[in-house]
Amino acid sequence: MFEVGENADGILAGVLFLIWLSAAILATRLAWRPTPEALRKSARRLLRLLVAALVVLVVKCVAIGLMLAVDWIFADNRVIVQMPLLLLPMLAVAVWTVPGLRALANRDDAPVDVETRSAAANPRFVVPVQVTAVATVVGVYFAYVSRPVPSYLDDIATHAAPILLSVLVLWFWQGRRLRVVTATDFARRGRRASALRATAQAAVVVLVVAAGITYVAQSSRLPDRMTMTSHDNVDYGGGPSIGHGGHGGISVDDLRGPQTGKPNKAFTLTAKNATVRLSSGAEIKALTYNGQSPGPELRVREGDLVEVTLHNEIPDENVTIHWHGLDVPNGEDGVAGATQNAVEPGGSFTYRFLAEQVGTFWYHTHQNPLEAIRRGLFGALIVEPRDGPPPGERDFVVQAHEWRTPDDNIVSFGTSDTLQRQEVAPGTPVRLRLINTDNNPSTDSRPRALTVNGTPVRVAAIDGVDVNGPTPLTNPRFGLATGGRYDVTFTMPAGPVRLTDLANRDGGLVLAPPADASTPKIVDDGDHFDPLSYGSGGSRPFDAGSSYDRSFTQLLDDRLSFYNGGLHLVPIINGHSFPDTPTLMVRMDDLVKVRIVNRSHQNHPMHLHGHHALVLSRNGVRATGSPWWIDSLDVIPGEIYEIGFKADNPGLWMDHCHNLDHAANGMVMHLAYEGVTSPYELGRGTPNQPE
Ligand code: C2O
Ligand code: CU
Repeated sequence: MFEVGENADGILAGVLFLIWLSAAILATRLAWRPTPEALRKSARRLLRLLVAALVVLVVKCVAIGLMLAVDWIFADNRVIVQMPLLLLPMLAVAVWTVPGLRALANRDDAPVDVETRSAAANPRFVVPVQVTAVATVVGVYFAYVSRPVPSYLDDIATHAAPILLSVLVLWFWQGRRLRVVTATDFARRGRRASALRATAQAAVVVLVVAAGITYVAQSSRLPDRMTMTSHDNVDYGGGPSIGHGGHGGISVDDLRGPQTGKPNKAFTLTAKNATVRLSSGAEIKALTYNGQSPGPELRVREGDLVEVTLHNEIPDENVTIHWHGLDVPNGEDGVAGATQNAVEPGGSFTYRFLAEQVGTFWYHTHQNPLEAIRRGLFGALIVEPRDGPPPGERDFVVQAHEWRTPDDNIVSFGTSDTLQRQEVAPGTPVRLRLINTDNNPSTDSRPRALTVNGTPVRVAAIDGVDVNGPTPLTNPRFGLATGGRYDVTFTMPAGPVRLTDLANRDGGLVLAPPADASTPKIVDDGDHFDPLSYGSGGSRPFDAGSSYDRSFTQLLDDRLSFYNGGLHLVPIINGHSFPDTPTLMVRMDDLVKVRIVNRSHQNHPMHLHGHHALVLSRNGVRATGSPWWIDSLDVIPGEIYEIGFKADNPGLWMDHCHNLDHAANGMVMHLAYEGVTSPYELGRGTPNQPE
C-alpha cells in the first residue's frame, strides 16, 4: 500500500505540474485575447483546467492517505511540508481568480474594452495561478529530489523560499503587463518578440542550468581523504551526548583478538586472480582466495582460537577479510579504512579471534566489495558446536551467488549453475547452510527466493543463531537477505529432495537416495517464510516494551541526485549519504533500539557489524515465536522494523545496506562507541575504499 501511494504521489506531482503550467500560460495570456469569443473560450478552458487540478488534488490526497494508513511516518513530510505549500496558493486561486474568471467565462459579446482587459491582467487575478504553477514545480522537486526528514524546519524554508520569491517577481512583472494592457495605444502595440531576443534568452537559461548542474555534480565528489567519523552529524538516540576520542580514548588498533596463544585452527588465504569454471563450463575471470571461488571453506569448532593469514597477490586490487555475522573484536573486523588499511599487492595481514558463536557465517573482502565480492572474494565460515555436529548429520553449504560475464548474469550455488546431485541415505539428518553471497536481492521486491521441494523442512538457525521450536514447512519460499543465512534441516526421506533458486530453475541441488534418479518438480507457489512468528520458546533478554538507553530512527529514502560525481537514484539515510549520514553514538552496555523505516522504492538488507540484534516488531506487530536474532535484515518498501541490541562490543562499526550498489552510493553509516577512534582514512587518496 505504501508503494502504491508513493508511486502514485510521484506521478501525480508531474500531472499537477503539467495542468498548472497550462493554466498559468492561459491565465497570463487572457488579457491579450482579441475578440469577445476568444476571451470567453480561453476563460472557460482555464476553468476546466482548474476543475481538473482539483480532481487530481483529491486523488493525491488519497495517495497520501494510503501511505498514512501504513504509518504516519511514511507521509508526515507531505502533510507538514508539501501540502501546505500547494494548498495555500490554490486557496488564493479560489478566492481571487475564480470569481473574476467566471465573470469572463459568462461574458456577452460586447467588445473587449480596457476595463475587461485590466481585470484579466490584474496581478491579483493572474499571479495566484502562476504561483501555484511554481508550487507544483517545487512539488516535483519534493517528490523526486528532496526527501525531507524531521524536524522539517529547514525543509519548509527551502521549499517555501522559491514560492515566496516568485510571488514578488511575478507580481512586479504582472504589474508592468497590466500597464501595457491599459495603455491607450495598446491596440497598436504588437508583440515585439524578436526571434533573436528569444534565442538569446533561451541560451542564457541553458547556460545557467548547465553551469548549475556541473557545479552540483562536482561538489558531490567525495573528498580524497576522510575518516569514518570526520563529520559532525552524530545521533545520540536521545541519550547523553558523548564524544569519539579525547582523553582516555581507545584506538580500534587496541581492540584486537587474542594476540598470544597457539591457534587451534590456522588458515592462509592468498588473494589472487584465477579463472573459475562453473559446472556449465562458463568461465569467470575471478578474484579469488587461494585460486578458488567461493574461497576455501573455513570450518572451526566453538571456542577455537582461529588465525587467518591473508596475503595479497592480486596486482591491481587491495583486499581485506570481513567475517560477516561473526561478532569478532573490532580490530579484526576487516573493514578497509575503519579497522585496518587494506592489504596492498604483496602485503599481508593476520586476523586472530575466538570463534564464540556456533553456526553459518561467511567471509568476504571489505575493500571495493561491490566489484570484488561479485567477482569472487568470498567464502563460507562454519563454526561447529564444541562437541561436534549432531551424529550422522550431513551438511551442505550453499552459497547463492550471481556471476557476471561480459554477456550474462549467471545465478548459481557456488560454482554450480546446473543441477547437481548428491547421494544421501534415507534417514540421514541433513542441514542445508544457505548463504546469500550476492550483491543484490532479487527483483520482485522480495529478497532472493530459494525453495525446497520433496520433504517438509525446518529452519534451524537464522544468521548463525539457533531457532527454538522450529515447525515443519512444506514447499517454503525462503527470501534470504543479501548477506543473510538460513540453516534448513530435515531427515532424508525415501525420495529425492530439491533445493532451487527460483532465479535459475535449471540449476539447484538434488539430494537423492542411492540409485534414485528421479528429480522432484519445482513448486514455487509456497508461502514466503516469515521469521517474525516462527518457532516457539526461548527467552528474550529485552523486547518492544523494555526501556532503552538510546533509540535511533533510520529513515531510508531515495532521491534523484548526484553522488560522487554521477547522477543516481541515491539511497539516503535520514536525508544524507555517506559521509554525511549520522553516526549512531553509544556507550558500552547501553541497551539500544533502532527503528528502520523504508520509505524508498527498493529493498534494503541492512547489516550492522559486530552485533546481533533482536527483531522486536514489524509494522507495529510484535515478534512472537522464537527470538529472531539477525545481523542482516531485509527491509522492503513500506516496512518499519524495530530491532534492539546490547552495546557489548566496543569499536567503530559499519552499519550499511548489503545491497552493495546502494552501499557504494552512500548507504553507509556507523555505530561508534564512546571514546573509540580510528587512525585509518578512506577515499581516493588512500588505499581504502570500504564500499
Ligand atoms: Cu558483509 Cu559490511 O558486510
Ligand atoms: Cu539498499
